[in-house]
Amino acid sequence: MTNKYMYFIANWKMFGSLNSLNSLHNVVKFLKKFKKNKYTKIIYCPPNTLIRPMSKKLKNSNIVVGAQNCHENQKYGAFTGFVNSAMLKNVGAKYVIIGHSENRKSGESNKLINAKIKSALKANLKIIFCIGETLKEKRKKITKKILNKQIKLGLDHIKNKKNIIIAYEPVWSIGTGLIPKAKELYDIIDFIKKKYKNNKVLYGGSVNPKNINELKSIDNIDGYLIGGASQDSKKFIDIIKKTYN
Ligand code: PGA
Repeated sequence: MTNKYMYFIANWKMFGSLNSLNSLHNVVKFLKKFKKNKYTKIIYCPPNTLIRPMSKKLKNSNIVVGAQNCHENQKYGAFTGFVNSAMLKNVGAKYVIIGHSENRKSGESNKLINAKIKSALKANLKIIFCIGETLKEKRKKITKKILNKQIKLGLDHIKNKKNIIIAYEPVWSIGTGLIPKAKELYDIIDFIKKKYKNNKVLYGGSVNPKNINELKSIDNIDGYLIGGASQDSKKFIDIIKKTYN
């Protein structure tokens, strides 16, 4: 792969303390010297507690910060334990992940996800919209049907989609070390791109320095949403380097 604009999104999930921010230094240093840096978009999505200090640390770099979820209510309100998109924006987030399967699993419906996306767009955040089938759905061979429904309902009544990136994350590949077969993955990305015209589609699920060579050969993928491996700056840098090799 040579000159293609690629996204590398780090999803730290519920990991990380103030000390973890020290490792960002390696990534900033690497990116400055990296020959392909103008094609490389890095977005860190730490837990909400780290958005502010992380944004400060990355202020003079090209790396931006995002959040992992938000409440659907645009205004302040009596919602104990939650934050909305405007509050995330206020502390430095530029992006927000919405529809992650870990949140779908704990009850987020397509309708709620749609409300969250609308609310976050209003707050001028960019969206990383996650979709993906479970193992059961894959076995039933209804992957495309599920993805179609998630896209249709998740993006219902949203006309301007230019600030929405889709991340295809098969639920069975998240944190398991398993990735889809290359042909299968190419086909699904192609299907999503046809449904959802003119947009970036990323892959997520067990992306690591070992399988990146296989993944990068799938040339319709526009980048990766990386969980576990993104918490280790060495592995994260390795993934980026190998993508362009
Ligand atoms: P993983 O997570 O890379 O650890 O599989 C990806 C994700 O959940 O976004």
